[in-house]
Amino acid sequence: MEEEAQEDLMEEEEEEEEHDEDNVPSSALKAPFRASTRMQIQRSNVCSRAYFVVVMVFFHVYIVNVIGLLLYVHYNNGPGDVVSGDGAKPEVSTSGASREELHMEEDYSQSFSLPRIEGIRVGHVQQVSLVPDRTHEMRTLSLKPLLFEVPGFLSEEECRVVVQLAQLKGLMESRTTAPGRGPEESSQPLLSFSTEEVFSLLDLNQDGLLQKQEIVSHSRSRDGTWLNPDNLRHILSGLEARPTGLLTLDDFRHVYDQSQRPGQQRSGKPRSHFKQRNKHTRLHQGPGSHHVLQTLRNRLISLTRLPSSLVELSEPLQVIRYEHGDFGDAHHDSGASRSETTCAHSRLAGNSSALTEVSCRYLTVLFYLSSVEEGGETTFPVADNRTYEEQALVQDGVDLTDTQQTCDRGNMRIKPAAGTALLWYNHLSDGRGWMGELDEYSLHGDCPVSRGMKWTANSWVNVDPDHQQQARYQRQVAQRHRAKSGMEEHYQPLSHSDLLHQDL
Ligand code: OGA
Ligand code: CA
Ligand code: FE2
Repeated sequence: MEEEAQEDLMEEEEEEEEHDEDNVPSSALKAPFRASTRMQIQRSNVCSRAYFVVVMVFFHVYIVNVIGLLLYVHYNNGPGDVVSGDGAKPEVSTSGASREELHMEEDYSQSFSLPRIEGIRVGHVQQVSLVPDRTHEMRTLSLKPLLFEVPGFLSEEECRVVVQLAQLKGLMESRTTAPGRGPEESSQPLLSFSTEEVFSLLDLNQDGLLQKQEIVSHSRSRDGTWLNPDNLRHILSGLEARPTGLLTLDDFRHVYDQSQRPGQQRSGKPRSHFKQRNKHTRLHQGPGSHHVLQTLRNRLISLTRLPSSLVELSEPLQVIRYEHGDFGDAHHDSGASRSETTCAHSRLAGNSSALTEVSCRYLTVLFYLSSVEEGGETTFPVADNRTYEEQALVQDGVDLTDTQQTCDRGNMRIKPAAGTALLWYNHLSDGRGWMGELDEYSLHGDCPVSRGMKWTANSWVNVDPDHQQQARYQRQVAQRHRAKSGMEEHYQPLSHSDLLHQDL
């Protein structure tokens, strides 16, 4: 009985609600209609307009979310940003020049957004896929500047090859002379390379054979003469005398030993002896360069997730040798922050002749090619400071930019370990996906080497803060490259070699 009464009550209420909704006065409805419409009213309650609207809103929000997610995934995994192993970029196996051209075209559309790795927090470790058979750990060292460390970025063998290539290019005498250094220490050391090492370094594509182009491209290199023209001519004619037009290691031994004879025959095994002239040198990494150098560049593209064209058009790898007492005062690697300056790398594409030329470097990847017995740390004196004030760098007679005196006072010091790469952003983001202001906190220097020898290499990625100018520059290089590629062999270094790069 009670249940029936309740049902009746509910029905009454429902009827009243229905009337309200339809805006019809209840007195206007007649009794016979009431009984027959009861069931319909109950059903239409579930399919009411309000219910429909709510469902539709949810449905639309869901669709919008799915589309948003798909767009996010698409733009974060664009063809230029595929994070995979060495040389694993999805490219067709075409020959050198046209492959470069493909990169230019493919990446041009993406060159207006610069990916930035997230630091999350100091100490955060993320796994990165750089080589096919393992992952590397990338640790966040600081957020101001955004600085990461990747141990084992280079293998021991790769460090050795890069150092040797730099030595062969002719490294100069140290410019900073430490006090108290004896005359015997500052004398130029002689380098010795075995025939096998010379063969391996000439064998740019590492196929175990010397092709003509590998010898020819060596003779074109501007800043190193570790084989004199007579040696080269001798090797080349030896190669041309072979029916295959190639030299195996055995062939090379024969030819090379002969080429060493005139003038400088020594007792015992013939060896090449070179004087170290330079403290630093540049190594190109484009087509025709040693395969270890090309591999490193691809790995850097994977690490930074930058468009490959941007990295390929950046300045060549700089290799530096630090001897006992050598150091570098704290500095910023990039000069692109003031309006009166223009970027060295993209200058050719502009008309700003009166401005001061500076290096515009979005980020730095510093490779430690050797460990150091003592000293030689890289220091970031103001990393993660709460504020940055230039005056605060010099206080109470302590100058934090003077790394020779104050290396141990900086906020962060990193001990060189062979194979480790450091990556930091010299610039902040402009908030629209492009390079913004110089990050003052990226100030860094290197402490004096107190025992052992230090070898490093710098890879800088050049970006013009004016993205129009960067676009013009890239277009110009691509055009020039297209014009060239028809005429020249693939072993010619990328047209970038025509462009001057200056150190800060
Ligand atoms: C540089 C530099 C740091 C180091 O070469 O610009 O800052 O530890 N080097 O070698
Ligand atoms: Ca070869
Ligand atoms: Fe630097």
